[in-house]
Parts: sequence; structure tokens; C-alpha cells
Amino acid sequence: MAFDQRFLDELSARSDIVDVVGSYVTLSPRGSEYWGCCPFHSERTPSFHVRPDQQMYYCFGCKKGGGVVNFVMEVENLSYPDAIRFLAKRANIPVPEETRDDGAYRLRSRLLALNRDAARFYYDQLHSPKGEAAMAYLRERRISRRTATNFGLGAAADEWDGLLTAMLEKGYTQSELITAGLAVKGKNGGAYDKFRARLIFPIIDVRGDVLGFGGRIIRKDDPGAKYMNTPETAIYSKRRVLYGLNLAKKSKRGSILLVEGNIDVVMLHQAGFDNACASMGTALTQEQLHLLSRYTKELVLCYDNDDAGKAATQKALALLNDTEFNVRVLELPKRLVDGQYVKQDADDFIKYQGADAFEHLLSGSGSGMDFRMAQLAGRFDLPNDQGRIEYAAAAAELLADVPNAVEREIYTRRAAETAGVAPEALKNEVGRAYARKRRRARREQEKRDLRPAAAAQPKERAMRYENTRSALAEEGVLRLLALDDALFGAEPPLAEEEFSSPLLGKLFTALWRQRRERGAIRVGALDGQFSADELGHLTGILQKPEATGQAARKKALDDYVRIIREEGRKRGAGAEDPLAAAMRKRQKTTKDRDGGTTDGN
Ligand code: UTP
Ligand code: MN
Repeated sequence: MAFDQRFLDELSARSDIVDVVGSYVTLSPRGSEYWGCCPFHSERTPSFHVRPDQQMYYCFGCKKGGGVVNFVMEVENLSYPDAIRFLAKRANIPVPEETRDDGAYRLRSRLLALNRDAARFYYDQLHSPKGEAAMAYLRERRISRRTATNFGLGAAADEWDGLLTAMLEKGYTQSELITAGLAVKGKNGGAYDKFRARLIFPIIDVRGDVLGFGGRIIRKDDPGAKYMNTPETAIYSKRRVLYGLNLAKKSKRGSILLVEGNIDVVMLHQAGFDNACASMGTALTQEQLHLLSRYTKELVLCYDNDDAGKAATQKALALLNDTEFNVRVLELPKRLVDGQYVKQDADDFIKYQGADAFEHLLSGSGSGMDFRMAQLAGRFDLPNDQGRIEYAAAAAELLADVPNAVEREIYTRRAAETAGVAPEALKNEVGRAYARKRRRARREQEKRDLRPAAAAQPKERAMRYENTRSALAEEGVLRLLALDDALFGAEPPLAEEEFSSPLLGKLFTALWRQRRERGAIRVGALDGQFSADELGHLTGILQKPEATGQAARKKALDDYVRIIREEGRKRGAGAEDPLAAAMRKRQKTTKDRDGGTTDGN
């Protein structure tokens, strides 16, 4: 690893987890801990807590946990070395001369430089004779030069290796171009440009880095996909970007407008709606919401008005339900062409109806609940009595999920009107639906509590336990070690090989080393050695209930060790299933990792 240990120790001493987390999350003290709403998933009642004694955090809702470095990696979406630099800057400690032998960091900065040069190449090409077709296409779409420049739009000419040649000349290698998703491997060891004869949209993140590209066909008869995007790379993940957010984050409008397509974003900005950004045709993700939450609490969904767009709206609303975002839905009307109603997207609407009309729709856009209720009403035959009964039942289900009582009351009245029933009747229906949901949730919780073995399984497949009885005892040993290390003597009670779970064994060794070297256990200081999932798993284990009192704990420890040895003997005696043995071996080798990974997952 690239950083000096003395520097890391000083950094952790000066980066108190309560301080750091406290600048993202409002924390309230409760006993010796702090609680707040989790920044990694949306919630209204706090299930996220920070323990200063262990310098760690854990969320009971999404099961994320770890130390301060890990927290910064997650919340700022940074690699391990970048998170270290971030904290050093915050604590005002100079980062010692780094030996840049950190492969992941090098790859990342190399790809960023390549993307920046590629963006410049495409941009220059748009403004050269080779970019004439793309320029003509921009005119046809009514995108001005100024707007094109604002978005850094470019052109890939109708050639096999225009970009490749230019970038090789600049000193990048063919394999770097392939890794960046800019070139594709050919048959005989060669490569060719991925984007050909396309209008190019650089995808720029909120820091201004070019993470990837989208490319649209220019010719109507081009048989290729209409849009082509950079595949997942070390720097680009489609779940984590929103096209145009680099500009939208600066908007003074106070809200952010979410649309489906690249051209919609470009066109809206040109028309004065500089708060637009796009999830580029894919469903809105939790990661994108997390990104958005840094800039606004007001979202307006403006997806296409066809079935796919409506379904995407429903899905986004479901994701946004019970979050701190205020959501409105801007419904675009269909357009009448030759007696037929056709779908429109934001770009079409601006083109045919103009910016003023769009502003009008925007100011009148209803809440997400309005949209869902209207969608629901459309599915039932309302003039018909049977249809109204069914509608009322379905509306009650939906209304029972509205967390705010005043809102629930308002929408219940409105739905009652639509169904033509008395508000009180529908209110009773909603109350019953609510009680039903509560009962179901409680039953499911009870079922989970009754199946500790299944619930104990880590979510990540690579961390799954092979022997649950032994693994639960191993968890207990880890918990006691972190909770009360006075129970332990000078020598470890178990060797790493005796653990049935390789991960728990590795964690035990790491904690034991901390105890030996620092005289205390700090789960938060393991960030560099374990992945976010692995640390999340550990912090989860530490939250489970454990025996209290010295005597009870001593007995628990003895029991755990006995169980682990018993199970170990069974494994040793009954020859292990050869397939399971091979799988475990494979897991172990693929999971051996170095400290500096590109991202936290
Ligand atoms: P649409 O098909 O709605 O296209 O895709 P659009 O945005 O209206 O495109 P124009 O106006 O014809 O240029 C919405 C978005 O989905 C992504 C693109 O980001 C697009 O803007 N998409 C679409 C793809 O990634 N690949 C495709 O083949 C199509
Ligand atoms: Mn369009």
C-alpha cells in the first residue's frame, strides 16, 4: 500500500468519525452512541448509528458499516487512496510523498486523462470538415452551437480508427483504449473505434471529469443501435451517473428535472430549464438518488408519455416513496398528428409547444401521488359499480402507504370523490389496509427471527457460510473480542485455520493483531484491509445481542470455542465433499485482495 503507517495513524487520530459523519448526517447522542438517518438509503426514522469507542458506523436498515475511511469512500464515491487524500485535506495534514505503486489509482487517472483527450478530439472533429454530418444533424435537431459547446458535444467521423490513431499518437496504448471502452478488439489482435459516425455526448460527473460517452447515430438508415454508451469501466458505472448533472447542479431553479434522454437534457437547457438531467434510458437508481440528495430535495419527473415512460415513472415513485425528496410529476400531453395521438418527450414538446408552455406544465405539475392515483383510476371501469368497488379497494392499498397523515387525508378524500363513495367509508378501508400491512410486516419479522440460520447468511455470495453452526459461534468470538477483550489471554483461543468461514478467520486475525500491536481494538481502523461489504458484515455481527456480565461472557466464549472445535472435527473426520472443498479454495484465492481498490463495492 502506498501510504506510510505513521501518517495513517495520525490521520485516523485527527479524523474522528463522529465529526466526519456529522458533516453529512444530523446525529443525536443516545447513550454512548450517536443516531441519525442513514445517508446510504432513504429513510425517515434513524437506523444508522455511530460508535465513537470503536470509531465505526453501522446501519441496521441497509447493513452498511465500517470505519471513517470506508464511510468517506461510500458517501463521496471515492477509491481508498482518494478517500485518504480527502480526509487528509479535511484534517489539514500533508499527504507524505506517495509512492505511486497503487495500480488502481494509476489506472483511474490514466483513463480520466484519456477520456479528456478523447472528448477534446471529438469536439475538434465536430468543428472540422469531418464533422459536417454531425453539425447538420445538430441543426436538424435545432441545437445551437452555443448549446453544443456548453455540453462539449463532439463528432465521431465515419471511420474505423480516427480516434484510435489520434490517441496512439498521444502516447496511449491500444489496450488502454479498449479498457476505456473507446475501442473494440478486432479479429487479429487489432482494434477499431467503438463510436463511428455518431454525435458524441461526453458524460461528465459533478467534479468535471469525463467518465464516458454516449453516441447517437446521425444517419436515419444506420442499422446500429440508436444510442451507444461507454460500457462499465473502472471509472464509469451507469448506476452512478446522471447525464447533465454537472450543469444542473448549478441551476438556480431549486429543483432538479429528471428526463429520459440525452437530447431532452440538451434541449431543455437550451430552452432555459438548466436543471434537467437524465438517467439515460435506464431506471433511476438508489446511487443516483444519493447523488441528487447533495443538490436538492425537490425532484420533478418528466419521462416520456408512452407506456414505458409511465412504467418508469411508477418505478421511480416507488423508489422515492418514503424518502426525504418532494416529488412532482410533469405529465406531457400526447400530440395529435393526422388524427392520431402520438407520444412526446420533453424535446418534442419544447419543439412543438415551446418553452412557455413547458414552464406552464412545470408550475402545474402535480405530486407523485396525483400521478399514481390518476394511473390507478385509469385501470378501472368507474361508471360501473363493480369497477368503483375495486377501485376503492386498490386506492386504499396505495393510500395506506402514504406516511404523512395530512397528505393521506387529502388523497383519501379525493379518491373517494373519484370512486363516488363517502370519504368515511374509504377512510375505514384505508385504516384496514394499514393494519393489514402492519400485521404482515410483523409476521415476516417474526419469521425472520425464527430462522436465525438463514438470516445469518451474509448477502454477498462470496461471504456465505458453509457451516452455519460453527460460523455463528465464530461470530460470537469476534463479538466478544471487540466487546470485552479482557476475557482473552495472551494467546489467541483459536487459530485462523480453525474458523469454518475464511472471512471470519481473517477478521479474527486482523483484530487480534490490533490488540497485540495497539493494545486496543478499533474496528474502524480495518478500512484499508477489508472491502466495504466485508466490514459491513463485521459491524453487523457486532450489533447482535451478546451475553452480559463477566461470568456469562466467559461461559459464552468457552461454548463458542467448543462448538467451533466440534464442528471442525466433524469436517476433518467426514471427508469434505470434494466439490465444496474446491469451491472454498477458489473463493479464497479470488477473494485475496489488495488494499487499493477502485471503489467500495
Ligand atoms: P429514447 O429512445 O427515448 O430516445 O431513449 P430519445 O432520447 O428520444 O432520443 P432522440 O430524441 O431520438 O435522439 C432515451 C435514452 O435512452 C438511452 C439514451 O440515453 C437515450 O437518450 N438509449 C436509447 C440508449 O442508451 N440506447 C438506445 O439504443 C436507445
Ligand atoms: Mn427524443
